[in-house]
Amino acid sequence: MKYILVMGASGDIGQACVKQLAREGYSVYCHYHTNRQAVDTLVAELSCQYPQQDFFAVPLDMTDEAALPAFVADLFEVNGIVFASGGTVYKLLADTTPAEMDRLWQVHVKTPVRLCQLLHSKLVRRTGSIVFVSSVYGLIGSPMEVMYSTLKGAQLSFVKAYAGEVASSGITVNAVAPGAVDTQMNQALTSEEKEELISSIPAGRLAQPAEIAASIVFLLSDKARYITGSTLPVTGGWQV
Ligand SMILES: NC(=O)c1ccc[n+]([C@@H]2O[C@H](COP(=O)([O-])OP(=O)(O)OC[C@H]3O[C@@H](n4cnc5c(N)ncnc54)[C@H](OP(=O)(O)O)[C@@H]3O)[C@@H](O)[C@H]2O)c1
Repeated sequence: MKYILVMGASGDIGQACVKQLAREGYSVYCHYHTNRQAVDTLVAELSCQYPQQDFFAVPLDMTDEAALPAFVADLFEVNGIVFASGGTVYKLLADTTPAEMDRLWQVHVKTPVRLCQLLHSKLVRRTGSIVFVSSVYGLIGSPMEVMYSTLKGAQLSFVKAYAGEVASSGITVNAVAPGAVDTQMNQALTSEEKEELISSIPAGRLAQPAEIAASIVFLLSDKARYITGSTLPVTGGWQV
């Protein structure tokens, strides 16, 4: 039985991942920060549906560095990690505060990198896989989301560098770069902003979380063991 840690399992893309992983026979640690209810419901549902597999709710504020050792100590076996956590700050760089920059850095880069370090020994015991949910903005950048784009790009550089370092240990490290996905993260858009966004997507619609999850589950699977250091854009034809 393989155990996957899904960071951001209380979010829309994370939840879609957990559901597909469960269907594929994995056991899952479902991480949340504030939305315990979402993860408790998911864990209860999946434990009923797949009684042979394990589903655990695991809390962590990814800006709380001191909480990391205890969080890691509670994970007994880990064969894969999905980083589907974090949000954006939508404003001009001139208005972005140092505290907002620090928070974005910790959630998108520093804590995921620390988790890779701390879970390395567990991942090498069996063939391990790591998948980052980056963003198309990490490839092309986005005005009004300069810090977010910068850190999504940093995730992609980390994936390339770390993949080379751990390839001989049997660990794969990849990223998916979604375009716009129909999730909570985009709920703040006005209908005009949403229409403008959709008009720039060749597929003519936002992605569904399940469509992003499908590419993540593939990258975690044994079918993808020779893919590492890669970024898979999932953008509906949005050119990167
Ligand atoms: N939606 C899009 O259009 C889109 C496009 C490209 C990339 N992405 C990326 O996809 C990933 C998932 O996004 P989503 O759309 O599924 O967003 P979402 O539904 O808003 O979920 C965000 C997740 O991040 C967690 N999180 C936020 N702050 C945290 C913190 N300080 N510590 C720990 N966890 C924290 C949330 O936990 P709680 O809810 O429990 O607090 C939640 O599980 C993100 O990395 C995002 O950048 C999204």
